[in-house]
Amino acid sequence: MSSLKELSSTHLTPYNSRYASQVRIPKYKMPENGTSGDTVHAMLRDELDLDGKPNLNLASFVTTWMEDNARDLMLENVAKNLADNDEYPAMMDISERCVSMLAHLWGVQSGEKAIGSPTVGSSEAVHLGGLAMKRRWQEKRRAEGKGTSNPNIIMGTNAQVALEKFARYFEVEARILPVSKKSSYRLDPDLVRENIDENTIGVFAILGSTYTGHYEPVEEISRVLDEYQEKTGIDIPIHVDAASGGFVAPFTYAGVGGPKWNFELPRVKSINVSGHKYGLVYAGVGWIVWRDESYLPKHLIFELHYLGGTEQSYTLNFSRPGGQVIAQYYNLIHLGFKGYREIMENCLSNARLLSRSLEATGFYTCVSDIHRPAPAKSKAGAVTEKVKEAVASAASSAVSGDNKGKQGGTSTISVPHIGEDTSADYVAGLPVVAFRFSDEFKKEYPHLKQETVSLMLRARQWIIPNYALPPNEDATEILRVVVRENMSFDLLERLISDIVEVTEQLMEDDKVDLSILQKQKRTRPDERRKARHLGEKQGAEKMRANIADETKRMAEGIHRTVC
Ligand SMILES: Cc1ncc(COP(=O)(O)O)c(C=O)c1O
Repeated sequence: MSSLKELSSTHLTPYNSRYASQVRIPKYKMPENGTSGDTVHAMLRDELDLDGKPNLNLASFVTTWMEDNARDLMLENVAKNLADNDEYPAMMDISERCVSMLAHLWGVQSGEKAIGSPTVGSSEAVHLGGLAMKRRWQEKRRAEGKGTSNPNIIMGTNAQVALEKFARYFEVEARILPVSKKSSYRLDPDLVRENIDENTIGVFAILGSTYTGHYEPVEEISRVLDEYQEKTGIDIPIHVDAASGGFVAPFTYAGVGGPKWNFELPRVKSINVSGHKYGLVYAGVGWIVWRDESYLPKHLIFELHYLGGTEQSYTLNFSRPGGQVIAQYYNLIHLGFKGYREIMENCLSNARLLSRSLEATGFYTCVSDIHRPAPAKSKAGAVTEKVKEAVASAASSAVSGDNKGKQGGTSTISVPHIGEDTSADYVAGLPVVAFRFSDEFKKEYPHLKQETVSLMLRARQWIIPNYALPPNEDATEILRVVVRENMSFDLLERLISDIVEVTEQLMEDDKVDLSILQKQKRTRPDERRKARHLGEKQGAEKMRANIADETKRMAEGIHRTVC
């Protein structure tokens, strides 16, 4: 580094700067002298061009497009810290309004005093929900003179890592129950019955499995816990992880397919959602709501006295961005119930189109079910009135009085006409398409790897992951597309034709060395170091030089992040 020219930072353009040719951009240690903002901006923007395009990242549930008004509001408030209640009272009011709207949307019962928090995402919210269940269980056990050393919590193997993290970080035994084809890759109520006991602090039920988009049978699980309580007197609560479904199920005609999942079930004590998923806000906001303040132990809530005011706080993080909360409120009042409904129905309609198109090729079978006729529909040949009534009544209690024609009426909430194609005609679930090679395709092309489809699509800029289903079912790999608001009909057509073209190319060119593509997968820096070690074994001098360079750099303090 010392031999490199020391250039001043009076450049004509960023590409005239010392970083353009002579000097590496500082990576692991802060430089002594700074550089012009224009240069750094241009260099970083160029480097970040190597990232995938958020719009084509079909792996993520997280919002990648927001309206200009919402984005402007976020940027106008980007300097506000959500922790500073007293300094930003208007923002705090907005946060409270969001909690209140969500409580109503999720069926809080009259007389209940719901309480909730904005969080950084569903992970923090799940941890807060789990911790409240653990503390309630401990308090009850202590009051009964019983031990509190072996708490356990129930979840399926399809649980997202946030749920497992809760168990590990908060020292609760995770009873992770196998999912199966029979249980539609969801928590199986029969297994819940077999695995609960007096030390069970609660059950995590997922509204919208990350793997396949299926809703877990919350009402059935609740019934199992009711029966258990009748027999033993032990009252086990449910926390619903509605990271994605909390902003999908309430708005769609399908709901969750008839059964209940929210505060209409007395056993559901708390629900979380990611505002940054189908809440349609950029990354950085989640929500948790307890149906009543009695379910949130008081000693978990900190009272902070700043500037003469009193703040109440139950969060894992203190400082966090406030703009997302404002954008959430913007969406709630700008879109309203009908706006969210339209968006979610569009997403589901596009997801059905993708599912049907994939199956029509004969190359693929869907593991997700949202394109299959709802059981009631296939039996009766029509959308059941029961489902429609349930959705209309949920909608009525969620929206404000001003929007209803008459007090308590549902006159402005439209219900689908018989024969109209809405989500009510199909199995309920998230707008997620999980698919795999069909059995016939596998028989004909046994040597083709599904992962290659994902890698070849990546070359066309689509990001569609290929991964194994949860343990027990992990012999099955799925490709998964999350259909978000900005997956337009045209983009979808393009995606379908790209999937078909790539698959046909694979079928024709099965002599191509696909391992080259596989090797192109990105590795973490520490994995790259291992690969270089392999190179050294092969005796390549250049590789050795690289390793020496790398080792030197390690010694100079290049450290890993875990994120
Ligand atoms: C079911 C489920 N729970 C929890 C999470 C974690 O959510 P977040 O990314 O908002 O922390 C996810 C994320 O995909 C999820 O799908």
